Amino acid sequence: MSAQPSSQADRFSLSTPNRDAVDTVLARVVREAAALVRPSVVAVWIADETARSLKLGAVGGDPAGRLPITALSFGQGGVGWVAATREALEVDDVFADLRFLGRHWWRSHGLSSFLGLPLVLEDRLLGVLSLNGSRPLRMTEGERDRLAGLINQAATALLGTRLDAETAAQRQEGAARRAALAMPLQFEELLVRLSSTFVRLPSHEVETAFATSLQQLGHFLELDRVTLYRFSRDAQEFVVVHSWSGPGVMPVPPRVTVSQEFPWSVSQLLREQAVGFSHPEELPVEAFRDAETFRRRGVRSNLAIPMMAGARILGCLAVATLTVERVWPDELVQRLRLVGEVFANALAQKEADDNLRESELAKSAILASLSSHVAVLDREGQIVTANESWMRFARANGWLPQAGVGTSYLDVWRRAVGDDATHARDVLAGIEAVLDGSGASFALEYPSRVAGGERWFTISVVPLRVPKGGAVVSHTDITERKLAELEAQRSRHELAHFTRVSTIGALAASLAHELNQPLTGILANAQAAMRLMEAGSPDLAEIRSILSDIVDDDKRAREVIRRLRSLLRKDAAQFSLLDLNGLIRDVAKLLSSDTIIRNIAVRLELDPDPLFVNGDSVQVQQVVLNLLLNAMEAIAECVGDGRTIVVRTKIEVETVHVSVQDAGMGLQQGTEQLVFEPFYTTKPSGLGMGLAVSKSIIEAHGGRIWATDNALRGATFHFPLPVGV
Ligand SMILES: Nc1ncnc2c1ncn2[C@@H]1O[C@H](COP(=O)(O)OP(=O)(O)OP(=O)(O)O)[C@@H](O)[C@H]1O
Ligand SMILES: [Mg+2]
Repeated sequence: MSAQPSSQADRFSLSTPNRDAVDTVLARVVREAAALVRPSVVAVWIADETARSLKLGAVGGDPAGRLPITALSFGQGGVGWVAATREALEVDDVFADLRFLGRHWWRSHGLSSFLGLPLVLEDRLLGVLSLNGSRPLRMTEGERDRLAGLINQAATALLGTRLDAETAAQRQEGAARRAALAMPLQFEELLVRLSSTFVRLPSHEVETAFATSLQQLGHFLELDRVTLYRFSRDAQEFVVVHSWSGPGVMPVPPRVTVSQEFPWSVSQLLREQAVGFSHPEELPVEAFRDAETFRRRGVRSNLAIPMMAGARILGCLAVATLTVERVWPDELVQRLRLVGEVFANALAQKEADDNLRESELAKSAILASLSSHVAVLDREGQIVTANESWMRFARANGWLPQAGVGTSYLDVWRRAVGDDATHARDVLAGIEAVLDGSGASFALEYPSRVAGGERWFTISVVPLRVPKGGAVVSHTDITERKLAELEAQRSRHELAHFTRVSTIGALAASLAHELNQPLTGILANAQAAMRLMEAGSPDLAEIRSILSDIVDDDKRAREVIRRLRSLLRKDAAQFSLLDLNGLIRDVAKLLSSDTIIRNIAVRLELDPDPLFVNGDSVQVQQVVLNLLLNAMEAIAECVGDGRTIVVRTKIEVETVHVSVQDAGMGLQQGTEQLVFEPFYTTKPSGLGMGLAVSKSIIEAHGGRIWATDNALRGATFHFPLPVGV
C-alpha cells in the first residue's frame, strides 16, 4: 500500500525552497510507520504554534482514503489533544473516549484505536504523528524504537523548514526595516535636490525643472503618474501645469472641471487636507463622483497633496498607480507635502515673474505705441527709458547723444539755459519741481527751432508713482494745432476789423456831422477874422479869440479823426494798461452826434476812480461800441424817458464790472445765449456778428459776457474784466 498524498490545496503551504524535500521525508515517514502497524492509517500533522492550529502534512497506510478533517485547532480531537499537551496519547477504543471526533469515519473504516505522538525538537512543537488502528496497538520494543526514529526524521525535516521560513521572514522583515529606515534618508536627499534646483531658477527654466522633478519622483516612488495641478482663478478648474506618466501610461487630460469630476477631493484639498486611497472603494459615499472618475480613468491608488505657497493654496500634487495597489503611509504624505511646498513656491515665483514680464511687455508696448516723444526719468533726472518716437525725434534733431538713454535730461535743459533759450529756465524749474516733489506736474507750450523750421511743442512732466521716484516727460508736436489756432485768431482779427469798418460805415453820417461842426466853425471863424482884418484898425483881441476858437475847433476835428483812426487800425492786438472809464467816455463821444440825431441820451454812471484793466484798447472800444449801438437800435422804437442808455462801471473785488442798460424791447425769450452766436440777428440789415465778436474779445481778455432782461423794460449786457496790474 502506498501513501496517498493529500491534494496540494489542503496542504499547509511552506514557502521555503526545500519544500519538496520535506514532502518526500514526510511521505516516507508515513509509509514506513504504516508498515509497522497493520492495518492502520498514519498521518503527520504540521503544527503552527502561533496560530495554535494543525494542518495535514502527509497521510498514508491502509485502509486508504482521505481523512475527513485536514485542519484542526490545538485541543481538537486526539491529534489536537496531543498538540495541546505535547504528550503522547494512546487510546484502545476511541468510541469510549469523548475527545475523539468523526466517529462515523472511524466506524466506516473499521478503525478504533489511536496513537498520537508529538513531534518536538529544541522545545518546539513541530507537529503530531497519528496512527489509527483497527485494534489496540501493541507494539514491540523494536517497533517503538523504529517509530521513534521516524518521528525524529519527521521532526528534523519540519524543524529545518520552520527555521528556513523564519530566516526568510526575518530577512524580509530586516530588508523592510532597512528600507523603511533608508527611505526618509533618500527622500531627504531628493527633497534637498529638488529645493536646490528651484532656488533662484530663472522662470524659463522652471518648466524643465518640473519635468525632471516629477520624473524623479515617479521613479523613486515607483508610481505610474505624477501630476502638478493648478487651480484656475475661480477654482472651477484644475489646469495641468506638468505631468509625468510612466511607460505605456496614458497622459492626463490638460484640464479638469472640478465640479463634475472631483468635487469632493477638491473640497478636501481646499481645506488643506490630503486625499489618498488604495482603491477607489475606500472613498466615502459622498465622494461617489470622484470615485467614478478615478475608476473611469483606471486609477487604482491615488494620493493628492494640497500645494501650498505660504498660506495660499495653488493646486495639488497628485501621484497615482494604475496597475498595483499602494498604501500611502503618513510619513510619505508628510514628505510629499514638503515636495508640494517646493513646487508651489517655484510655481508662485514663476507666475509672479511671468506677470511682471507681461506687465512690463504691456507697458513697453503702450510706450512704443504713443506718438508723443516719451521718456522716463529717474529721481536724478537721468533718462531711464525712452520710446521709439523719442529716439527717432532725438536722432532727427541732433539731440543724441545728449538726450539718449543714460544721459541727464536736466543737463539738456541746463545747456539750453546757457544758450539763452527763452523758455528753458521755466522748463528746467518745472522738471526739477516734479522730481523733488514740490510740483504736482508741469506743462508748457513753446516754439522751438528744429530741423525743418520752427515748430511748436508742449512738454508735460508728471511724477512717476514708484517708491524710487522719478518722472515721465512727454513732448508732443503741436505745430498743426498751433497753426490752426493762430489761423483762427487771425480770422477773428480780420472779422473784428471788418465789423469795425462796417460799424464805422454805419456811423459815417454822424461822423461827417461831427467833423462838419468844427470845420464849419473854423470856416466861419476864419471868414470873421478876415473881415476884421479888412477893417482899418482890426481888433486884435477879437482876432486872437477867433484864432483860439479856430485852434479849438481844429483840435476837436483832430480828436474825431484820432478816434476814428484808432478804431480802423488793423494792428495785431497790443495789451496795455487801460483806463476803462476814459475808454468808455471816448466811445460815447464818438457816438455823440449819432445820439443827438436819434434823440437818445447816453448816461455814464462811472466809478469815480480810474479803473484799470489789461487789454487792447481798440478791441475793448469795439465791445463798448457794439453794445451801445445795439442798445440804440433796441430803443429806436421807444418814446419819452425810455430813450436813455445807462453805462455803469464799478469795481468788484478783483474785477471791473461794466454794464450797458437800455429800455428797449428787451431780448426775445430764450435767446440769452443765442444772441452771442455768430450770424444771429433779428435786424433786416444786421450781420449778427456784433455780440459774437464782443464775446470772443472779452474771453480773450479773461472776462465773461452775458445778457439779462430788465425787470421793467429792455435788456442789460454785463461784462466783468480782471483788474489790471
Ligand atoms: N440791447 C438789446 N436789446 C434787445 N435785443 C438785442 C440787444 N442787443 C442785441 N440784441 C439781439 O441780439 C441780436 C444779435 O446782436 P448782434 O449785435 O450780434 O448782431 P446785430 O446787431 O443783429 O447785427 P450787427 O452784426 O450789425 O451788430 C440782435 O439782432 C438782437 O436781436
Ligand atoms: Mg449789433
